[in-house]
Parts: sequence; C-alpha cells; structure tokens
Amino acid sequence: MGFWTLDDIRWDKFDPAKVDPDLLKVAKAASLVERNARDYATYLCSVFSDDPEVLRTLDQWAEEEVQHGMALGRWAQMADPTFDFDAAFAIFAAEIKLPIHATVSVRGSRTGEWVARCVVETGTSSMYSALAQAADEPVLKQICQSIAADEFRHYKLFYTHLRRYLKREKVGLWARLRVAFGRAAESEDDELAFAYYAANHRHEGLPYDRQTYVERYARRTFRHYRYSHVERGLAMIFKAVGLKPHGWLNRAVASVAHRFIRSRVRRFEAREIKAAAA
Ligand SMILES: [Fe+2]
Ligand SMILES: [Fe+2]
Repeated sequence: MGFWTLDDIRWDKFDPAKVDPDLLKVAKAASLVERNARDYATYLCSVFSDDPEVLRTLDQWAEEEVQHGMALGRWAQMADPTFDFDAAFAIFAAEIKLPIHATVSVRGSRTGEWVARCVVETGTSSMYSALAQAADEPVLKQICQSIAADEFRHYKLFYTHLRRYLKREKVGLWARLRVAFGRAAESEDDELAFAYYAANHRHEGLPYDRQTYVERYARRTFRHYRYSHVERGLAMIFKAVGLKPHGWLNRAVASVAHRFIRSRVRRFEAREIKAAAA
C-alpha cells in the first residue's frame, strides 16, 4: 500500500476557472512519463536481480510512480476533456524504449545507478514542490504536494541503497559527479520532450522536434523554480555524490544555477513567442 491513493484526492474541489493552461501542458507531459515507471522497475529488477533488499522495495516504488501518472492524467482530463490520456500514453510508450533487458547498470556501476536514481528523484521532488507552490487550482495543488512528498521519500530510499553499495564498491567523488552530470543532462533527451509533444501537440499533426519541445516543457516548468528549490535540490545531489550538502559551495553553485535557469526560461520564452509570430 502506498502513502495515499487516488481516493484521497479531493476531486470535488476541482475549479476549472483556476486552471493555468501552461501548468496543464506540463501536467499532461509528466503524466505520461510517470505512468511509464514500470519499465524502469523492470530495468532495475534485472540489474539488481540478486539483491532481495532492492527487489523488495521496487514494486511499491513503481506503483507509486504509476499512481503519480494516473493522478496527473485524471486531473488533466478534468481540466481538458479532449485530452485522450490512454492514446497519448500509448504513443509515448511505443516511442520511448528503456534498456529493460540490461543486466548491468548503464551507469557503469551499481553505485552509479543509485546516484542516477537520486538525481532523478531530486529532479522530480524539486519540480513537484515548485508546481505545488505555483498551482492555484486546488486539486492540482494537492496532487503535486502528495507527489512531492513521495519523491522526497524515493530519494531517501535510493540514497539508502547508494550507501549500502558504496561500502562494497569504491566509486569516488569524480565518478559519482560524472554520473550525476550525465543523468541531469539526460533530462534534455527525448523522454520529456517527446512526452510534452505526444501529450500536447501530436494530435495537431505537427512534426516532432526535440529541441523545440525541450524548450517548451522547460520554460513552463522552470519558471516556477525559486532559489530555495534550487538550493535544496543541489544539496540532495551534493549528498549523493559525497559533497557537503549545506555549505558555501552549495550556496555558490545554487545562486549561479538559479540565475542560469532564469535566463534560459527567458530565452526559451522569447524563442517560442517569436516562432508563434512567424
Ligand atoms: Fe513520480
Ligand atoms: Fe519518484
């Protein structure tokens, strides 16, 4: 059993007048990625097939991630009854293929796998915290708050596995930093961009272009990131790679990262407005 179910969401509080069309687009895209989590669980189960402690925790983790997708998808359908959640998911799942048959981690070591998983849970916990603060619509707010709490718990779970593996494998700071950077950069791969396209634009018959949809998704999401979200997220990543999470280095990097995020949001916004006017 998870910590909440779809029945705990106060769907009766839904207020269509408070739906933000940009947050609706983000919620639709996120619903597809979250709903696809069983493929990640399959991959992790085969990489850690000899570790009962990991296997014991993966089922519930995947169930919670899928529930994130189902909650967001249901909300998106309330906000936009033309949104065909099942059809969009089918298109997304057919396009985005994960290495589910891999028997060794694509991160080079098992420790590296947990670093990458910690980076993902850091990203999702920051994103849903930011969206929960930004959302005016009460049901979306409740969903994002519930999801954010799960994502922080997922980070803790994977960090526990990371610490266990660090005792067996010698994976130093630089190797862990490389994995963390690599996984963070992958957020601009096809997965999120294609989810954004499949959920929001495919039915319009527009062609898919990765960079365009990376930017459209990113600007609608990252505009809600406050300095506190960036600082906390970086502290979590620092901890996963073996750096002191709360110190001058974290604050310095967070302030540069926050400025960088804001300038990218402005640049992406300007580009989208220009493209729409052309
Ligand atoms: Fe999730
Ligand atoms: Fe998660």
